[in-house]
Amino acid sequence: MSARIIPAPLFDLVIFGATGDLSRRKLLPGLFQRDRDGQLPEGARILGAARSKIGAEAFREQAAAALAEFAPESVQEPEALARFLRRLDYCPVDVTGEAGWSGLAATLAEHDDRVRVFYLAVGPGFFGPICERLAANGLAEGARLVVEKPLGHDLASARDLNNQIARVFDESRVYRIDHYLGKETVQNLMALRFANAMFEPLWNARHIDHVQITVAESGGIGGRGEYYDRAGAMRDMVQNHLLQLLCLTAMEPPARFEPDAVRDEKLKVLRALAPIEGREAMKFTARGQYRSRDAISSYWEDAGVRDSHTESFVALKTSIDTWRWSGTPFYLRTGKRLRARMSEIAVVFKEPPHSIFPPEAGMIGSNVLVIRLQPDEGVTLSMTVKEPGPGGMRLISAPLDMTFAGALGVTDLRLPDAYERLVLDVIRGDQTLFMRRDEVEAAWAWIDPILAASQAAPRPAPYDPGSAGPEDALRLMHQDGRRWREIEA
Ligand code: BG6
Repeated sequence: MSARIIPAPLFDLVIFGATGDLSRRKLLPGLFQRDRDGQLPEGARILGAARSKIGAEAFREQAAAALAEFAPESVQEPEALARFLRRLDYCPVDVTGEAGWSGLAATLAEHDDRVRVFYLAVGPGFFGPICERLAANGLAEGARLVVEKPLGHDLASARDLNNQIARVFDESRVYRIDHYLGKETVQNLMALRFANAMFEPLWNARHIDHVQITVAESGGIGGRGEYYDRAGAMRDMVQNHLLQLLCLTAMEPPARFEPDAVRDEKLKVLRALAPIEGREAMKFTARGQYRSRDAISSYWEDAGVRDSHTESFVALKTSIDTWRWSGTPFYLRTGKRLRARMSEIAVVFKEPPHSIFPPEAGMIGSNVLVIRLQPDEGVTLSMTVKEPGPGGMRLISAPLDMTFAGALGVTDLRLPDAYERLVLDVIRGDQTLFMRRDEVEAAWAWIDPILAASQAAPRPAPYDPGSAGPEDALRLMHQDGRRWREIEA
């Protein structure tokens, strides 16, 4: 299969926090892969900006080390690496002071007719100060700004952050990354829904019993204890990634696959989410924290906070108050240190209204459409079929399985990392897969009362590392006569 590669326009990309983790793990390796695929035009520059007073050569060495560590071995061709490293330059900049800005301005002035992108791979506390200095140094005009979560820790702080950005950058030039929107299968969800005629007539409460969205991780909180303990699973995962998945699953068909048409529809979903407030939070949510019997590899150990009440797991039941979805619950769950790394959206259809088969034939199950994000990106539709062979009519459930690599007959299909796609979309000026200000704020407006209620709730229920989460999460389903799908790789 030949990929249709659309080259990017000529650009200067400035990465603030260029020597940090995000840049090393994701941005530089992602840009390198795009360069290797021939998508970065000759002369396009990537400028690192950070506090360290190093020169361009030292930055290139750091970048080379990052590529050696984080880009797949199969793509480490010396020629491609050398070409990529030649694009890199570096400006030491004090983002909260005055030092270094004139140097950055002089470097950018060499080509002020290009697409100019500022990627803030720094903590949100620096967003406002950087925007101010970009404006003061005359660098912001016409430029694009990329920011990433945490975009606030509640509605008020998110508004504040958005206001700081809006003082300098018009919304049409702000790109808020939710890297889940850059995942291949998430985009495929839109193709599945809106490029096939067979799903839309069934995509509503008359035919869909419920939807389960799971983002399970087997890893713990790594070295991010300080951040994570202030966030917890609700802020870290639900407010952004899980709600974005819910929006794409539930939204009305946009008139066009264009930024505002898509984002308008997602916003309507967020605004139609039934509020979960006060006592209801206990009924419709379940919080957990991993804790092993020997305390080693327990959340407290990992977070470095004894007696923390932060949840490393959350499950919740919600509904969308619209004609399309009235009566179809959406169940969401996410957690760390679970049995496997598995993310999927499962659309569970209603059972056929009447069985014509005798009881000995076996149960007729529901059709389940599963959109798998990871691992093994693909789509499965479980169908009830006749068990092959003699012995009368026996019904079994069998999957119609489509892993993308298998279905497209390619063995070497490389699905680009989310950041690769998203950074290129910024350079091309396509905001479709980025969150608009009102979406972020609507998500916080829905999350805030749940967080407030959890302050007063009992501490999160313990669960064993390597399990499917706390028992309490089962209650959410059992009380409705349903059950969660297995968490398995
Ligand atoms: C991040 C969260 O946004 O997403 C992390 O902050 C989480 O806690 C990560 O581990 C999961 O991303 P992915 O792409 O590995 O599923």
